[in-house]
Amino acid sequence: MASHLPRHVAIIMDGNGRWAGRRDLPRCVGHWEGMNAVREVVEGACAAGVEILTLYAFSTENWRRPPEEIEALMGVLQAFAEKERERLAREGVEVRVLGEIERLDEPSLEAVRRIVATTRGGDRLLLNLMISYGGREEIVGAVRALAAAARAGMVEPGAIDEDAFRGALLTGGIPDPDLLIRTSGEMRISNFMLWQLAYTEFHVTPVLWPDFTREDLFEAILEYQRRERRFGGVAAG
Ligand code: IPE
Ligand code: IPE
Ligand code: MG
Repeated sequence: MASHLPRHVAIIMDGNGRWAGRRDLPRCVGHWEGMNAVREVVEGACAAGVEILTLYAFSTENWRRPPEEIEALMGVLQAFAEKERERLAREGVEVRVLGEIERLDEPSLEAVRRIVATTRGGDRLLLNLMISYGGREEIVGAVRALAAAARAGMVEPGAIDEDAFRGALLTGGIPDPDLLIRTSGEMRISNFMLWQLAYTEFHVTPVLWPDFTREDLFEAILEYQRRERRFGGVAAG
């Protein structure tokens, strides 16, 4: 799988509720099951040689869900951090958490701090967990930061270019995703990485997130390798 490996793979992990619903189980059971799929894709990404894996775990809009479901999702986050952080550190996985995390409750914030601190410096895979993340909010935040810098005389408005804007986003210097996977068959972006996905290849699979395995990841990568990326130009050769 060496040719044209995607450096950066992003995943919209969707379908936990439907996975549970099909089994007549409460939605939160689907969220707990989804944790196993996260382990699968981390191992799959390391095995394939992917450098950056970005997982959409909780959107700004997900705050609209019932309080008990939000609580279950925060419980999954805390359990994941507790169960996985040492192992991820051993595997060389560095975890970053991007989003409006100040909206999280204290135990979840503490879990975030611990997993980030324990895995700092890992150089095999960068794992971005997008939590309380929204693409529009991220763009507005970048605009606000650049406007403040301009007002303070630190930057000339005319000098604000794509690179400066990119640097003001939460993803900062990370290269854009090469491949975006969405599980559960939905054909929409749901406020995910609106700037960064400009030229990303999309792969939508009907598989529900708790059922997603490393083989599903490899299949998406293989399909990506058959694509021709033109970035607005013409076909090579
Ligand atoms: C994805 O599964 C998890 C989050 C969005 C937090 P859903 O909870 O959206 O599951 P469906 O889409 O209702 O099946
Ligand atoms: C997108 O899934 C957000 C995450 C996977 C975290 P949703 O289930 O929240 O998105 P919609 O509501 O179907 O667009
Ligand atoms: Mg969903």
